[in-house]
Amino acid sequence: MPNHNINVYYSAITSYLVLTMFITRRERFSAAHRLFREDWTDEKNLEVFGKCSNPNWHGHNYTLFVTVEGEVSHETGFVLNLKILSSLIQNKIIDKVDHKNLNIEVDFMKNKIVSTENIAIAFWEELENDIIQSGGRLHCIKLVETENNFVEYFGK
Ligand code: NI
Repeated sequence: MPNHNINVYYSAITSYLVLTMFITRRERFSAAHRLFREDWTDEKNLEVFGKCSNPNWHGHNYTLFVTVEGEVSHETGFVLNLKILSSLIQNKIIDKVDHKNLNIEVDFMKNKIVSTENIAIAFWEELENDIIQSGGRLHCIKLVETENNFVEYFGK
């Protein structure tokens, strides 16, 4: 095949191939929490949860990565419009948690131990349906609590 035809062939192939890709949006928020069980003494909570059980709360600067899987649209070249994903995360998550106390001010964390794991699971549940309706599949919630600690949840 002569070289000048390569682009023609490339266009022909990509116009019917279904290409799957992952896209990720990062958002950041700051929030307070306390790791504790009401049915344990402060001593027991301190023993299990360490400094994070401080009865007077403490805060973290969290970084959230939301990864969506989908097919690259032939019409837009997008998996999902990142503006739509961003405003979805903003409305469903960030507006509810940023500069809040996660234990007492956030409806979807009520009666849960506010660990990074449980926050990530709750975020998944908050976002999953809306992402499906936007045409993507939620692949991963990655939540970074400190420089050294983060969790990744894949929905199972
Ligand atoms: Ni903490």
